[in-house]
Amino acid sequence: MPAAPVRTCPLCGLRFSNLPLLELHIREDHPRRERRPGREDDNPADTSDSAGKAGDGSSTGAAELGQQPVRLAAGAGSPPDLRAETMKTAISGRPAGPPGTIGVETMKAIVQDDYGTAAEDVLRLAETARPAIGDEEVLVRVRAASVDRGTWHLMAGLAYPMRLAGFGFRAPKALNPGRSFAGMVESVGKQVTGFVPGDEVYGTCDGSFAPYARARAGRIASKPGNLSFEQAAAVPVSALTALQAVRRARVWAGQKMLIIGASGGVGTFAVQIAKAFGAEVAGVCSAGKADMVRSVGADYVIDYTREDFADGEHRYDVILDIGGGNGLSHLRRALTPRGKLVMVGGETGGRWLGGMDRQLRAHLLFPLVSQQLSTFIASENSADLAILRDLLESGKITPVIDRTYPLSQTPAAIRHVQEGRARGKVVITI
Ligand SMILES: NC(=O)c1ccc[n+]([C@@H]2O[C@H](COP(=O)([O-])OP(=O)(O)OC[C@H]3O[C@@H](n4cnc5c(N)ncnc54)[C@H](OP(=O)(O)O)[C@@H]3O)[C@@H](O)[C@H]2O)c1
Repeated sequence: MPAAPVRTCPLCGLRFSNLPLLELHIREDHPRRERRPGREDDNPADTSDSAGKAGDGSSTGAAELGQQPVRLAAGAGSPPDLRAETMKTAISGRPAGPPGTIGVETMKAIVQDDYGTAAEDVLRLAETARPAIGDEEVLVRVRAASVDRGTWHLMAGLAYPMRLAGFGFRAPKALNPGRSFAGMVESVGKQVTGFVPGDEVYGTCDGSFAPYARARAGRIASKPGNLSFEQAAAVPVSALTALQAVRRARVWAGQKMLIIGASGGVGTFAVQIAKAFGAEVAGVCSAGKADMVRSVGADYVIDYTREDFADGEHRYDVILDIGGGNGLSHLRRALTPRGKLVMVGGETGGRWLGGMDRQLRAHLLFPLVSQQLSTFIASENSADLAILRDLLESGKITPVIDRTYPLSQTPAAIRHVQEGRARGKVVITI
């Protein structure tokens, strides 16, 4: 008898051996479908079960995450531990079929159905399918992930132009907004060379707030041997951005450099990389984080709440504007006549522009002035991760980790970063 065609749920990737089961799944059991109050299949036990068993040692359960109760497969239940627990799940109310038909590997992961600015409102812990990988992809067992400002932007879908850039117009395409990770290779696609199951790797992937995630082979590299998974997970997005920003500025030894936002995820790496290039670094941050910024190598620290870096007395050969909301003319006042400004970020410009107004003006102004004004979007790539590995293994740079959270508390971790409380990086352990 010919094998029944396998159909894939377009929403979550679960596979089914026949159409009626897929329809039932979408209509009744879809994990991304919100349970409506008063439905006859509402079962309060589900809520307490999933909340009470969000057990990774923390007291925060699914209910605290704003999690909608999700009906799990019959006979599956919540695993007692979130750490990479996976299991075969069958369609609710039906007996489990033979492996490879209606049963699929699932995992407890952070999922997001809609865009929203409050992490507790939009992220929840839920049973979801282990990702399937393509020929050029790697399935990674995530051991730790990290949060950065970009995590919040992906979660919120802001500024709006990013929705047009392919992240999902009305709702996020990604299951969760995590990108940076460190972990182990679980399996590799047919065309992947250079990685085998068991390799310890770090880099970026789709949905790192989960026990398993799929990563493109060109966006991962061997994990630095001297770092724990937590430390390595703090590196990818932030340190890649810092490296590429310093490189873009073509910094050389002895140059005077101003790093605005020196106490954050990108800034703590940028200070160390700039020092490794031999620059003299002044870091801009709030007073409470000044000691930490000095400890990573800044020669001077400017408290932006009390001092103006553009005081007319000091001028810099290079400015990296990572965290400030400063206008272009203000930044240019602190640059030498032939100085270079690299605009990395800044939380200005509102929902529509998100800082792009400054970047547009810099592009228009650039041909007319002697200073070099530039902006860039960081590239996630293996070659730069390998350069960072060398810098990390030689001790020239070290991740600064503010704190770690268990997977169930990912929303709190994102809020901590968004509220500007983090010193360096915030890591999620899985
Ligand atoms: N271009 C790219 O491809 C790219 C890639 C990654 C990130 N980014 C952007 O880079 C920015 C920083 O990201 P992150 O993850 O490093 O964020 P973060 O960890 O939250 O750090 C933000 C930094 O900005 C500083 N800051 C806040 N308000 C300031 C002000 N008024 N003046 C001067 N400094 C101020 C903070 O100092 P205190 O904490 O001491 O107040 C902190 O050092 C974000 O806008 C992000 O979207 C861009």
